[in-house]
Formats: sequence, C-alpha cells, structure tokens
Amino acid sequence: MKSILFRIDPDQIDLTSIKEAAGLLREGKTVAFPTETVYGLGANALDGRAVKEIFRAKGRPGDNPLIVHISSINQVDDLVQEFPEKALALAKKFWPGPLTMIMKKSEVIPDEVSAGLSTVGIRLPSNEIARTLIHEAGIPIAAPSANLSGKPSPTTGEAVIDDLTGRVNGIITSDDSEIGVESTVIDMTQEPPVILRPGFINQEAIEEIIGEVKLSEGITTGIAPERPASPGMKYTHYSPEAKVILVQGEPEEIVEKILEEIDRDEDKNYSVFLTQNSREVYSDKVADIVELGQDPQETARNLYAALREADKRGIDIIYVEQFPIDSNSIYVADRLLHASGYTMI
Ligand code: TXA
Ligand code: MG
Repeated sequence: MKSILFRIDPDQIDLTSIKEAAGLLREGKTVAFPTETVYGLGANALDGRAVKEIFRAKGRPGDNPLIVHISSINQVDDLVQEFPEKALALAKKFWPGPLTMIMKKSEVIPDEVSAGLSTVGIRLPSNEIARTLIHEAGIPIAAPSANLSGKPSPTTGEAVIDDLTGRVNGIITSDDSEIGVESTVIDMTQEPPVILRPGFINQEAIEEIIGEVKLSEGITTGIAPERPASPGMKYTHYSPEAKVILVQGEPEEIVEKILEEIDRDEDKNYSVFLTQNSREVYSDKVADIVELGQDPQETARNLYAALREADKRGIDIIYVEQFPIDSNSIYVADRLLHASGYTMI
C-alpha cells in the first residue's frame, strides 16, 4: 500500500494538504495525524469497514475499543445515548484537550469501534491540525495511537513513519507531541466516575469541576490489576524491545543499585534514563545516559521517543530512575509501570 506523506507546519497550516487527507478519510481510508498527546491513526468512526483497516494496520487485537475524535462539542449528541451533565461540565472545561470520556454509545457507533462494548470513548483534541482535519472530513474519526501494537505510542513524525509506512493510506507529520503520553480516560457511566487511564488532566483538576471521582485500582497500587478496567490495559502496552527496569529509592540509593546491577553482566548494553540524578554520577560507568528531564511534564514529553531511540541503539536493559509519585506525576509513572511490565528494584 502506498502511504501519501503530508508534512504540515503547525504555524502555517496548509489547508490543501489537510483537505486531501480529509478526502482519504471520507473515502474510508486510514490517515495518521498529530494530536497534542501522541500521534493517532484515524478512520471514519461511522464506517465499520474503514475502522477494521486500523486494526489490520496496527496489528491491534479486535477486543480493544477505539477513541472517537471530534472537532466540536455539538457532535457528541449523535454519538451517545445521553450526554450526562457531569460530562458536559468536563467537556466545557477541558475540551479541546487531552481528556477522553466514556459514555453510553448510540446506534451509529459500529461494533468495530466499541469492540462490542455498549460504551464509546470520545475526545476533542486541541491540536490545530487534528481539529482542522476532523472538521474538514466532516465525520467523527476513530483513532488509536499510531504505533504498531505493543510499541510505545509515537510522539514524533519519524516514529509514525517507522511504524506505519506502507500500512496506511496517509501520514501527516508535524511537530513532536506537546504532552507526549495518551489522554486521561474517564468512565462517565459510573457514579462516581472512574479514571481508567491517568493523563495530563489529573484527578484533582477533574474533581474541582464535578466533585468526587475514583482512580481505577491498578493505577493507585502500582500492582498489575487482575481484571483490567479498560480493555487496553491488559496488553503489554508501551513497551520497547529493551527490558525496562524501574529503580526506586532516594537518589543516592538509585545510583548504588544501578551500578551494582551493571557490574554483574558486562556483556549487556545498558542505558540509564535520568530523572533524579545528574549525568556525572554515572558518566565513567555507564556509556549510554538519557536525560528524561527533572519534572513530570518534561519526562512525559521525552519518554516514548527515548524508549524508541534506545531500541535503535541496540540497548538491552534500560534502568529508569523512579521519581516521587503524586497527582501530577502519576500518569507518567503509570506508563513506566507498563513499559517495565511492573519490574522494579
Ligand atoms: O491521547 C489519546 O487518547 C490517543 C490520541 C490518538 O487521541 N489515543 C489513544 O488511543 O491513546 P488508544 O487506542 O491507544 O488507547 C485508548 C484506550 C485503550 O486503553 C482502550 O481500551 C480505552 O482507551 N478505551 C477506549 N474505548 C473504551 C471504552 N468504551 N471503555 C473502556 N475503555 C475504552
Ligand atoms: Mg495505544
């Protein structure tokens, strides 16, 4: 399959290219596009056959539902049985933005999108290219992250090109994703609503608008949930080829643990991802050091690209310095837990 490549400057959006890509979507074809969280792979959300192509291109299991992306709040009513008051309040506050709300789906949503569930996840992204594309297409767009299933979500145009060239009809590349990890997913069909996947928009910010919400269990405990809250959570998501190990403790303890570990097998290629210590403490012992940044937002922005690049350098084991977990960093900690398959020392 030939993938048409569109490179779009976010400061000067080329409407001709967007219209061409929107035309592909209207014809039932697949197009990858940037969003503020991660790049998405889109198809017409109202066309089951088009949506099937997404699953095929990604190698995604059919029982993992997709998020439907819209360009205006007015589109919600057609897609759901009811737009609950609390969901409307959250939409008014956080849309456009990195929040996905699960609601009871209407008949127009095909089973391919909802993976047989009676609910649908909806999000209005803030990225200007994404919104213009959806607006020009004139249809809601189902879109999971634009990675091959099992790989980290793509946050750069290059990552999308690496994963999906020849597998999709169009690829729009632009700047790197501003947030860098996937949207907050909140289930509005439960009372109180439940955060299924933590994201940049955190529990406190949501509670300020609608009162109490819960965090799904697997997120709070840091232990793998027995029964995943959201179908996507049971898959070894977000993981690179390299083995990822989270290293816990005070900054000095972290250094000691890592140096002890890498002494044991000198034949492996190690990388250390820094969030606590500075490069100097490892520099004569570890050849490959990556600075993820000193605050959770920066770590979020850098994480997925750093995992992919480590694979390209042939790294066998990545030690990631764990950082303090609070309501502002839990979404990044969650992605690291998944990437590591809950391997901690
Ligand atoms: O930031 C994002 O959300 C990105 C961009 C492209 O918008 N999309 C994304 O999609 O991360 P995906 O498919 O990689 O992750 C969607 C998550 C999965 O864990 C899926 O199981 C869950 O949302 N999900 C979708 N619909 C659901 C539903 N009806 N009920 C429960 N979970 C649902
Ligand atoms: Mg994904």
